[in-house]
Amino acid sequence: MKDAAPRAIRLSEYQNPAFLVQDVSLTFRLDPHATRVFSRISFRRNPEGPGGPLRLDGEGLRLIRAAIDGTEVQPKILPAGLEIDAPDAFTWEAEVQIDPKANTALEGLYMSNGMYCTQCEAEGFRKITYYPDRPDVMAPFEVRIESELPVLLSNGDPVERGDGYAVWRDPWKKPAYLFALVAGDLVAHSNGFTTMEGREVALNIWVRPGDEDRCAYAMDSLKRSMRWDEDAYGRAYDLDVFNIVAVDDFNMGAMENKGLNIFNARYVLASPETATDADYARIEAIVAHEYFHNWTGNRITCRDWFQLCLKEGLTVFRDQTFSGDERSHAVKRIEDVQMLRARQFREDAGPLAHPVRPTSYIEINNFYTATVYEKGAEIIGMLRRLIGEDAYREGCDLYFDRHDGQACTIEDWLKVFEDATGRDLAQFARWYAQAGTPRVTAETRIEGGTLILDLAQSLPATPGQPEKAPQVIPLAIGAIARDGTEVLPTAVVELTETAQTFRFEVGTDDAVASINRGFSAPVILDQTLSAADRALLLAHDTDPFNKWEAGRALARTALVDMIVQSGAPDRHFVDALGPVISDNAQDPAFRALALALPSDDDLAQALTDSNATPDPDAIDAARTRMQTAVATAHEGALDAVYDAMKVSGPYNPDATDAGRRALRNAALSLLTHVDGGDRARAQFAAADNMTDCLAALSALIRTGQAETELQAFHDRWQNDRLVMDKWFALQIAGAPGETGLAVAQRLVEHPAFDWKNPNRFRSVIGALGMNHASFHARSGGGYALVADWLIRLDPLNPQTTARMTTLFETWHRYDVDRQDQAKAALRRIQSTEGLSRDTSEMVSRILG
Ligand code: PHE
Ligand code: ZN
Repeated sequence: MKDAAPRAIRLSEYQNPAFLVQDVSLTFRLDPHATRVFSRISFRRNPEGPGGPLRLDGEGLRLIRAAIDGTEVQPKILPAGLEIDAPDAFTWEAEVQIDPKANTALEGLYMSNGMYCTQCEAEGFRKITYYPDRPDVMAPFEVRIESELPVLLSNGDPVERGDGYAVWRDPWKKPAYLFALVAGDLVAHSNGFTTMEGREVALNIWVRPGDEDRCAYAMDSLKRSMRWDEDAYGRAYDLDVFNIVAVDDFNMGAMENKGLNIFNARYVLASPETATDADYARIEAIVAHEYFHNWTGNRITCRDWFQLCLKEGLTVFRDQTFSGDERSHAVKRIEDVQMLRARQFREDAGPLAHPVRPTSYIEINNFYTATVYEKGAEIIGMLRRLIGEDAYREGCDLYFDRHDGQACTIEDWLKVFEDATGRDLAQFARWYAQAGTPRVTAETRIEGGTLILDLAQSLPATPGQPEKAPQVIPLAIGAIARDGTEVLPTAVVELTETAQTFRFEVGTDDAVASINRGFSAPVILDQTLSAADRALLLAHDTDPFNKWEAGRALARTALVDMIVQSGAPDRHFVDALGPVISDNAQDPAFRALALALPSDDDLAQALTDSNATPDPDAIDAARTRMQTAVATAHEGALDAVYDAMKVSGPYNPDATDAGRRALRNAALSLLTHVDGGDRARAQFAAADNMTDCLAALSALIRTGQAETELQAFHDRWQNDRLVMDKWFALQIAGAPGETGLAVAQRLVEHPAFDWKNPNRFRSVIGALGMNHASFHARSGGGYALVADWLIRLDPLNPQTTARMTTLFETWHRYDVDRQDQAKAALRRIQSTEGLSRDTSEMVSRILG
């Protein structure tokens, strides 16, 4: 058991560091169970610090020896570090011993498949040696690695390589959370890049032997990211080497360690046979994200972990813009909003709601959330919209100029835009402070050719925040006349009061307002529109996001009606999909998105919003009936699209081909409801790429008739970890009705269920959580199975366990029986002897 009563850390209690670090020199003598870490650190008292003794963080370290200015000392060992009186300037030396092989938490120095690697964000460095492990202490690092392994890597540029050792030096000051070390039997996929400043950079992607032919796309994404950051933000890379390493055991997606990014292998490795179009797109986005951190995160970092969104929100915004530039802004925006709603709106509507900049935490690892990342990115998008692209770029230039080499706050970030534009951003700053998704109600009428828009905003109470103040909400508005012509091109209004009225000349009395175009603000919009109005927008809105949104609202309303009134599928909605299927003038990727129905979880939230209690079986049944109705009504057109969208030639992951495959597979998924699975079976047999293979397989899984194909897939891919993750996940997440529960119960017994590997754990237990009807099975068996496995994983890997408790964050939506079952499962986790601080914080917040 860790600390008996874990203490909350508060933003309001921030204090400057007592000591600053001028230089760090580390030597690692690697050994699986007894690695020795020698540190030599020059400290200087911070004139702006609080005074007092030297306190260093340390966890699970065996201190062998410590010295100050060469004289051996006996520091006082504390539960989470050490303390010793120290002069104003001195050299600290320490030798500690650690056990990487026993490190199952995957934080600090650990081993994955025979290779040594590190993960230090947020507070992993303290598991490597004693150090002021906080982001506002920045220093240059020199690292010597001693090991017989062939590849020895750390941050910065290589200095020296000899028999059994390597030395690296990172000249850029950095906080300890950006430290990294890798040692292993690895091979590189290499390339090069010349920066706009003329620097020749060696690029390497390090993988296990055999994986080197799956790195080309990640490398290509890296080079495009490097060029993009130069063009879009004027930022060039600043070392002679950039290394990426793929590891099999990783808690998160990837990590932006200076000059040595470490990736979950699933976000690096791709080949047409093993990765889907979606995998390729994610690899591109994550490679870009980690690369972009070099400026937004590394050169300018966070003062403390409350400011996490300073680097994460901004970097997500940058990677989203990059992906939009590389592919399609319209499609990317729709995908991003779908994700935002599925994860962030869900979080904001439940017991885990917190501000983008939280004000207290018990375990910081629990705050790497959709709110910090995705809502954090939305705030930057709103800021850019409010001040304009040129002023945004000016403000960013000022940010990099003014704060390079510093550890900053949200106040620093907003100040550069105030200085660049003269605009007061005090009210805008509430987006960082207030949790919850704003609701905007819009009432529109037209009088004498004037569109009158009555807007009102409200923000629900969230944990710890009963009262809210109005925020600045930028809403992009347009209008479409009944004949389909646009009578109001996009204009942005700023809603700053609780209620406000806006007027626009539209020159007609029959038009429909298109509000929140491009999803200009992350709000829930209540706008009363008839099905006919929505169909008009779906057919004619010039804003691609709102065009999609109109179809989505039609689908949601139709499905909610079916569920609540056990009615038949709405003909208006079914008919409105006709042109979406057949209009070849429209982007196939867009049409694929418009054909997809809202997820079960979306519908559960929609029902909750309309004060109904979601019944998971009824939701699942309604979706299936709707899909069958669409397929029956449009079978001919779907069949034509299915043939027309066939991609010929070698597989290419670019947006054009991926869009065609997406539309074709959306058609396949619908057609499988009426053709008995014939097309899907044929496609599965013929597929030469994972996108088409998996789409066919998932369509068959939904019919409950995929046994042969699942076996064939297993036999072909049983030795490929990443592909087997898909095999596990798909048959659980995609199973119809409650049947995913039985599949999960069977697969936890499968010999290949290597539950200590986070990817595999997520592909089984996480996949059950993604199957709405199965996780929420009336028996409570879904909750119980997930709880059993979380209890089992927690002592080994608290971070991944704690993240996965969020599967339960919506328990309050459901009926009393389900609530009781979910609460019983949560209480069982909570009362587990020795439960980690991570999981215990999450479970008690979820229980409320
Ligand atoms: N900072 C990483 C990113 O956003 C995420 C991460 C956090 C990875 C904590 C590991 C541990 O790219
Ligand atoms: Zn990040």
